[in-house]
Amino acid sequence: MSKEILQSVKGMNDILPDEAELWLWFEAVVRDWLHAYGYRNIRMPLVEPTSLFKRAIGEVTDIVEKEMYSFEDSLNGDQLTLRPEGTASCVRAVLQHNLLYNAPQRLYYSGQMFRHERPQKGRYRQFHQVGVEALGFAGPDIDAEQIVMCARLWHKLGLRDVALQLNTLGDAASRQRHREKLVAYFQQHQDVLDADAQRRLHTNPLRILDSKNPAMQALIAAAPRLMDELDDEARVHFDSLQQMLREHGVSYEINPRLVRGLDYYNRTVFEWVTTRLGAQGTICAGGRYDGLVEQIGGKPAPAMGFAMGVERLLALLQDDGMLPPRPEVDVYVVHQGDDAGRLARQVAEQLRDDRLRVLLHCGGGSFKSQMKKADASGARVAAVIGDDEAAANEVSLKPMQGGEQVRVNVSSLVAAVNQIIKQE
Ligand code: HAM
Repeated sequence: MSKEILQSVKGMNDILPDEAELWLWFEAVVRDWLHAYGYRNIRMPLVEPTSLFKRAIGEVTDIVEKEMYSFEDSLNGDQLTLRPEGTASCVRAVLQHNLLYNAPQRLYYSGQMFRHERPQKGRYRQFHQVGVEALGFAGPDIDAEQIVMCARLWHKLGLRDVALQLNTLGDAASRQRHREKLVAYFQQHQDVLDADAQRRLHTNPLRILDSKNPAMQALIAAAPRLMDELDDEARVHFDSLQQMLREHGVSYEINPRLVRGLDYYNRTVFEWVTTRLGAQGTICAGGRYDGLVEQIGGKPAPAMGFAMGVERLLALLQDDGMLPPRPEVDVYVVHQGDDAGRLARQVAEQLRDDRLRVLLHCGGGSFKSQMKKADASGARVAAVIGDDEAAANEVSLKPMQGGEQVRVNVSSLVAAVNQIIKQE
């Protein structure tokens, strides 16, 4: 009786070798891009104390209320959570290791995040983010740097159809004034609010503005605007940012309804959105979070960051017709017989020492079947070793794109292979 093959957890995907080639290419482009702007890599654990996310993201957010994979450590009863995002962990790590002492930090991380959402195209339970955080910078120049960085990356990747939405959430005092006006306004129109909005009215009224319920859209459109409550400093910050974006030729749309799903934001918030991924069109999002460092127990320090969803970005690239680059093989080593096998293993390492990519045939078989495998591998040269070659300490080299087969001594093998590759 055949056993059923166990499946991966719903919403958590394998990335198979063909697709992984695209991931590797993307990760290399992104790493170069981040280093060009002076951002440095930081790596945090996948698991953190649950209290970190409650405190940073906010108790009354979708993520904390219903999307976290939380569990109790069976050894000591600690409450732990698989990270749903990276900002909280990054700030925790920076404070724990005192990295902000005397120096601002430009940091980035990448890796898996976990949210218990309803899986659909572009929305997964395990997904990957590349996240960028700049800590200790107060001015709008860092906001502009990060937004321009994104625009440059989309250009580098050849992405079309991504648009920037921008908003400011002001500071604590203006948000409080706005919140009071908002609650009063929604209370006057309780009959139009759906159950979710009723619930949020006193816990997180700002999130009502994010509702997709068609019945509430007219009400939301006419709601008091935070923009009208901004104090001078926040207004100047936002104006300067826009000025810098214009100077860089980055176009944007101001969306006063952009409120973000995490509570730590203030002032600048932004999302890069495409219309091509259906409902899951946000490929990158972030903003300023000047209060978070203090909230997690540090001395107050301003901060700004964003994260992009790698699955969504790659889906967009594939939609644009981008194919994973084929893994490159320089040499396929074909061999038959014990002495030939010994020499084959030795020359394979010799070629690899010269940074060539070498597939050494494993599993035996006739020369003919091995040559078929060499052809299928896409190798540029087959290095063939039989009893004859082994006895003479030589290798026959067959250019796979056509051309004369040559026989060379092992001592001149590397030069001969490079010569053939150069001639292609
Ligand atoms: P976020 O908006 O929750 O922000 O996530 C950032 C991006 O991650 C989204 O725009 C989306 O592309 C991707 N993403 C989120 N959830 C999923 C999912 N379930 N499946 C696939 N992709 C997803 C943050 O996480 C903040 N930490 C960003 C930030 C950094 N703000 C300041 N610094």
